Amino acid sequence: MNTQTVKTAAPSRPSPVVKVYPQQQQLTPPQFKRISSFMEKTTGIKLPESKRTMIQARLANRLKVLNFDNYAQYVDYVFSSNETASDEITMMIDLITTNLTHFFRENTHFEFLNSTVLPELAKEGIIIPDIWSAGCSSGEEPYTLSIVIADYMKKNPGQFTDYRILATDISTKILSKAVEAVYPMETVKNLPDEIKRAYFLKSKNPDMDLVKVKPIIRNKVQFERLNFMDGSYRINPKKDIIFCRNVLIYFDKPTQLAVIKKLVDCLKPGGFLFLGHSETIFGSNLPLKTVSTTVFQKTREK
Ligand SMILES: C[S@@+](CC[C@H](N)C(=O)[O-])C[C@H]1O[C@@H](n2cnc3c(N)ncnc32)[C@H](O)[C@@H]1O
Repeated sequence: MNTQTVKTAAPSRPSPVVKVYPQQQQLTPPQFKRISSFMEKTTGIKLPESKRTMIQARLANRLKVLNFDNYAQYVDYVFSSNETASDEITMMIDLITTNLTHFFRENTHFEFLNSTVLPELAKEGIIIPDIWSAGCSSGEEPYTLSIVIADYMKKNPGQFTDYRILATDISTKILSKAVEAVYPMETVKNLPDEIKRAYFLKSKNPDMDLVKVKPIIRNKVQFERLNFMDGSYRINPKKDIIFCRNVLIYFDKPTQLAVIKKLVDCLKPGGFLFLGHSETIFGSNLPLKTVSTTVFQKTREK
C-alpha cells in the first residue's frame, strides 16, 4: 500500500482518517542519482539535482501503471536483470528526454538554407542533396526541411532532381509520432497560408483540429533510431547538410565535442552543419568555418 492511516487525537468527535503519504513517494536523491548516472552514461544527457522533481513527475505514471508503491521499487525494477526491465529502460528514456520542437523553429536557419546553402549546393553540381536531421524529435524539423527544399525546387526548376532526408532520434516513442506526421492544427497556425495549403492536409473530421503532412513531403523523410552515444554513426553516404539543433545543450562539454566530431565525419567536404542557436563549437579544433549564426561549413581538403 502506498498510504498510512493515522488517527488524530480528537476525543469528542468521531476520529477523521487522515492519509499520510510516506516519504518513499518521492524520488530520493540516491534514487535520482542512479537514474541520472545511467542517463548520462547511456544517452549523454546530464541531469543535475535541480531536475529531480521534474524527473519524479515524469515517472509518476509508470509507478501507477506498474503497480509499484514507491520510487524505490521502480528504480530497483528498472535496473534489475528482469526480462522486461529493458523495455522499461526504453520507456524511461522516452519519458526523460525533452522533445520540445516546432515547425520552422529558429527560422533564420531555414532562410539561410534557402538563400545561400541550396544555391551553393546547386552551383557545386549536387543534384540530389542528402540531409540529416539528427535529434529530430516528433518530426517537425525534418518536415520543415522537406517543405523548404520542395518549395525551393518549385521556384528553381532544373537545379535538383530530388532530395533525401534522414531523421534520427533516440526515443522510439517520439519517432512513431514523427512517422505518423499528425499534429494539432495549432502547430501550423502561424505558417503562411500558401505553405499550409500546399503541404498539409486538414482532418476530414471537423471536430478534430488536426493536420497531416502531405505524402510528397513525408515520403522524402526516412526515420531511424540513433543514439549519439554510439561509437560510430555508420551514416552512408556522407551528408551535404546536417541539422543537429537543441540537443547538445543537454550534454557536458566533452560529450558535445565528441558528438560534433562524429557529425563532422558524416559530412561531405563543403557540407553544412547547423547547430541550435544557443549551441557552439567554441574551443574545438575542427575543420569547420562559421558561415552564419551557428551554421558551419566543413572545409574542403586541399
Ligand atoms: C529538444 S529536442 C530538439 C528537436 C529539434 N532538433 C529541434 O531543434 O526542434 C531534442 C531531441 O534530442 C533527442 N536526444 C536526446 N539525447 C539523444 C541521444 N543521446 N541520441 C539521439 N537523440 C537524442 C531527444 O529525444 C529529443 O527528441
